[in-house]
Amino acid sequence: MDAIDPIRDGRTQFFVPSMKDLGVRDTDSGDADGECVYLCGNSLGLQPRAARALVNEELDKWSKKGVNGHFEGERPWVSIDDNVTPLVAEIVGALPHEVAVMNSLTVNLQLIMTTFYEPTQERHKVLMEAQAFGSDWHAVASHVELNGYDPHESIMSPEMDKDGLHTTAAWLSLLDREGESISVVLIGAVQYLTGQFFDDIPTITQKAHEKGVRVLLDCAHAVGNVPLCLHDWQVDAAIWCHYKYCNAGPGAIGGYFIHEKHTNSDTVAAASFVNGHQRNKGDSKIFQPRRLAGWWGADLSTRFSMRHEFISATGAAGFRLSNPPVLETVALLASLRIHTQYGMQALRGKSLLLTGYLEHLLETMLQSHVHILTPREPNRRGCQLSLAFPSLPPSTPFERLFKTLADKGVVVDHREPNVIRVAPTPLYNSFADVWRFVDILAQALGVQCEQ
Ligand SMILES: Cc1ncc(COP(=O)(O)O)c(C=O)c1O
Repeated sequence: MDAIDPIRDGRTQFFVPSMKDLGVRDTDSGDADGECVYLCGNSLGLQPRAARALVNEELDKWSKKGVNGHFEGERPWVSIDDNVTPLVAEIVGALPHEVAVMNSLTVNLQLIMTTFYEPTQERHKVLMEAQAFGSDWHAVASHVELNGYDPHESIMSPEMDKDGLHTTAAWLSLLDREGESISVVLIGAVQYLTGQFFDDIPTITQKAHEKGVRVLLDCAHAVGNVPLCLHDWQVDAAIWCHYKYCNAGPGAIGGYFIHEKHTNSDTVAAASFVNGHQRNKGDSKIFQPRRLAGWWGADLSTRFSMRHEFISATGAAGFRLSNPPVLETVALLASLRIHTQYGMQALRGKSLLLTGYLEHLLETMLQSHVHILTPREPNRRGCQLSLAFPSLPPSTPFERLFKTLADKGVVVDHREPNVIRVAPTPLYNSFADVWRFVDILAQALGVQCEQ
């Protein structure tokens, strides 16, 4: 399979940690310089080799140009993010002016909640997954509280099916029943724990909009992993991080999407305001986006004039606050260039095969030991499979199992209470990685497998 993989050279564009790098001594091959089995792109993607060069270019520029670097050189810092936004837009299925980069995910979630969560006595509820990522819950609950409501009453979650997965029917039925009291829906496009890809976002969005509810997506585990069509799906806004499947480094600059219907040119003209006081200037039928403003959201023509009048930049860019971190932005650029070199279609094609291969090996070799929590239909998942171990013998508690994998050079992660998340990522993982993982897992479980 690896020999005929059209994107197998993707791996050569990344640093894959060696066994020695990870301090692994117990190698089956005895080769400490050999590569580890890295299946953890769901948490932190590997470093693109080109990232160093681009970061170093900017460090050199800083040392030689100082403040003049803002306006000089191949990539003036004043518009450094213009280098990445078209590439990000391509990956999330948006128009270039619908996306921007700044902060990290939770901060951006706080900001889009400020814009889209406008609670009233009648409509103050938020619909989100029961098993939402903790930080998403904190962000939403804090908004609910700041607005004077009780998160336990205002946050609602649809029931999951018997396998702990989401169903479109449950979301639609809650929207039907409670829609008039809901302000915002927040959906994890790919669920962080189960790896479920919510493949029916347009249907839920349509129903939500019929009920006057705004739809926000958390795309942390979706961006760069599954095909997204944020513009066509008509969702109102989305946020994500770039350190997972976009390989931009730990704590990398995050991204967000605001559908152009909220920032089209009429709206932008009408949204010019002085410290918020003129929000309702112009046509009152146009949605006037609430925002926390900063100078980087101001149009470049007025940004440095230091006037107190805020003239918004066009589109999502008008929601930026501060000048962007240049080193983080070029690290992202390095990685997005690799992504777009192959394109989401080719990456998804390989991803389906890689994850299908992992599923096949687990089913044929370890069926009675491993329970796959992730949906079995390929279109309802990304690259990650989440594994539970229902029948571990007392001699191999979960912690021991996980440590044995790590000691043998397998990098995966675990989530409470006993789920191992395994993410073969098409850019740099091979079919051989998947085989090695299952072979080592079988050894750790004390199961003999035949190759
Ligand atoms: C689904 C989800 N939401 C939110 C976050 C928080 O991200 P950040 O630390 O960038 O705010 C993460 C981080 O892994 C995540 O997986």
